[in-house]
Formats: sequence, structure tokens, C-alpha cells
Amino acid sequence: MAKAGIFVISVMVSIYLTAGAAAATVPSYKTLYDLFISSPEFNVALGLFNYTGLLPLLKDPNTMITCFLPTSNATQLGAYLDWDVDQEGRYVWAILLQHCLDGQKAAFLKSLAPVVGEEMRRYDSAFPIGAYIWIDRQEDGIYYYGEEGEAGKVVKADLKGGKSIIHLIDNGNQYPSFPPPDTFDTVLEFLDFNYPIAREIFSASSFVNFLTDPARATNITVFAPSDAAFAALLKQLKITKAQLLNNRALVDLLAAAHVINGSALYTGAMIRYGSPIKLQTMAGPLTATADLTIFPKRSGPAKTVVLSNAYVKAVLSDYDVGGNDVWDPPKYVCHYVDKVLIPISIKDLSKVK
Ligand SMILES: *[C@@H]1O[C@H](CO)[C@@H](O)[C@H](O)[C@H]1NC(C)=O
Ligand SMILES: *[C@@H]1O[C@H](CO)[C@@H](O)[C@H](O)[C@H]1NC(C)=O
Ligand SMILES: *[C@@H]1O[C@H](CO)[C@@H](O)[C@H](O)[C@H]1NC(C)=O
Ligand SMILES: *[C@@H]1O[C@H](CO)[C@@H](O)[C@H](O)[C@H]1NC(C)=O
Repeated sequence: MAKAGIFVISVMVSIYLTAGAAAATVPSYKTLYDLFISSPEFNVALGLFNYTGLLPLLKDPNTMITCFLPTSNATQLGAYLDWDVDQEGRYVWAILLQHCLDGQKAAFLKSLAPVVGEEMRRYDSAFPIGAYIWIDRQEDGIYYYGEEGEAGKVVKADLKGGKSIIHLIDNGNQYPSFPPPDTFDTVLEFLDFNYPIAREIFSASSFVNFLTDPARATNITVFAPSDAAFAALLKQLKITKAQLLNNRALVDLLAAAHVINGSALYTGAMIRYGSPIKLQTMAGPLTATADLTIFPKRSGPAKTVVLSNAYVKAVLSDYDVGGNDVWDPPKYVCHYVDKVLIPISIKDLSKVK
């Protein structure tokens, strides 16, 4: 019995190898990292993952992603890094995600490309939120489109590294169409644009001058909770907005919990694969955890950064409508969050007078 079993397997293996060799000799590697170090054609792909701190993702045999990545023949990593100046990983991170399908999936080109006569097909990209990848069949081949930039023709398809599949394209000039960051003179003007309740809270706080001072000595990061997030908090505290605004101690504590005094952090600076990043707000510590659906060990449904402490777990909803990271002077970066980042329990908050 055992012998027969081995015989069957070896026949299957040799048929598989023959078929593989006939197809185009597509070797398969244990991990994406092994694939990427197998040829200089993957130097740019490797560089994109390395730069964004995602080498461990490449080395994890359980990683299952599908990406259309530019060959080194077509695109220089240096060009991406030039775009990233002053942005601490934000651009490269965005570009990398725009080149990968959303979710943990391994898709061969045949299953993604439209058939002859069919219009181009659209897929969700891994970039948050609502960015797409289009695959088109043209007379001379299959093309990948990002949201912006030129198309990339697939020059090598179905390269396997671990559970993932990589398609190489001949043009890396595609990027997500997130709105160009609007610039606002002050944090408050930024908030006014989308999050009026956050604006009211920050304006009523003792930090209003600090937030708006054009000569402020430090760079800051501000997390702005949505109006819905404040409404939910008021409900939990069983108070009205007017009662909150009249409680200076509570307003100050809440405002302080949303400001990092000392650095203006772009999204990319809060993302590290496999290990959270510690942040220090003016009211206590926060943990930033990268949480992208293309990660094999993600902690939830979100595909961005999760901020948490013992009392709250909030999702950074960057790249939402409006603007997001602002880098013009004065030096601050704002992010939207979907919860109020309370620094103490609701019970203790309700005692703040
Ligand atoms: C990753 O980037 C660092 C810093 O540029 C470099 O020293 C290292 O060799 C790179 N690793 C790989 C595997 O490319
Ligand atoms: C990239 O260039 C190398 C050598 O210059 C060549 O062997 C390889 O086939 C090219 N790859 C693609 C995808 O064009
Ligand atoms: C503020 O950020 C800018 C740009 O990243 C940097 O050049 C500058 O040194 C920072 N200033 C302070 C006080 O940290
Ligand atoms: C922000 O940090 C600077 C430098 O550490 C400090 O001088 C300033 O008082 C801080 N501002 C607030 C509001 O905490």
C-alpha cells in the first residue's frame, strides 16, 4: 500500500514538473523573500517592502498576497524614495498598497484578467480606503492600472513565493488617488473642515494657543475624533455637549489625550509589521498597531492603524474625505480617529471636575 502511494505521488510530481517546464519554467519559492532575492528583477519590489518595514511579512511563509510590482528594469527605487522625502514612509507605503490586491488572496493572472472582448475588471486595492486596481486586456497583453499614473504591462505573471503570487509589470508609475493633502494654517482650521465638535473641544481647551501658535517650538500630531465619536462618548458619560464644554478639566484632559507634543507623525511612521509602536500623548501612552488586510496576522477587520490603550481601541481613518496629513508649516499632522481616545475609564472620566 505504502509503496503504491509513493509511486502515485512520484508520477504526479513528474507530470507536474513536466507541465511546469513546458509552461515557462516558473519555479516556486518557499517565501516571497526567497523569490525576491532570486533575481535583481525584484530589487525594487524588495526595496518597497524593506523601506516600509515589511521584510518580516516577506519572510513569513503564511503571507498570502497578490501584488503587481514593477520590475527593476523599469523603475528605480530611488524614484519612490525621492517622493517620500519628509514623509517618513507614507508615500512608499501608499504606493506599495496600491500595487496589491486587498485581502489575503493568491490570484493567478488568468483569474484576474478579463477575457477577450470583456471590459477591464476592477478590484479593491489594499490601500485604504476605496482605492481600486484595474486589469485590462489589450491586443499586446494584460495591463495593470492604479488609480493615477500610467498603466503597467504585465511582463511576468504568476511568480510564486510561499502562498503569494507576484505579477511583474513594466512601469511603476501608478499611485492611489487620495486627495492631495489640503493645507490649513492651523489645526483648528483643519478640524473646522470636517470635525466641528473636535474643533469646539480643542478650542475650549487650555491648549488652544499651543495648537494654533505659528511660532510653536515643537512639531505635533493631533488625532481628531469624529462627531459621531464625541456623540457616543457624551452618551456614555450621560452629559450634553454644553456640559462637557463647561467642564474645563474634562475638556483639557480629552484634548491632551489627542495630542503628541514633539513629533508630527505621518501614517507610515505608525506602521511596523508584527510589533506595535509606542506613542506618548500629553495625557498618557497609546499603542499604534499596523492593521492591514494584506497582513496574515491582522487583529481585526480594519486595514489601517489601530490606536489603543486600556480603555479604547480606535481606528485611524486616514485618507477619508477631506484632507489628512498636513506637512506645511506650522508643523503638525492631523489624523481622523473613529473613537475618542479616552486616557482613563469612563467611570473615572465622569468624576473629572
Ligand atoms: C533593507 O534596507 C536597509 C537600509 O537601507 C539595508 O541596509 C538592508 O540591506 C536592506 N535589506 C534588504 C534585504 O534589502
Ligand atoms: C530585466 O532585465 C534582465 C537583464 O537585463 C532580463 O534578463 C530580464 O528578462 C528583464 N525582465 C523583464 C521582466 O523584462
Ligand atoms: C519639525 O519637523 C520638521 C520636518 O520634519 C523637521 O525638519 C524639524 O526639525 C522638526 N522640528 C522640531 C522642533 O522637531
Ligand atoms: C511641548 O513640548 C515642549 C518641549 O518639550 C515644551 O516646552 C512645552 O511646554 C510642551 N507644551 C505643552 C502644551 O505641553
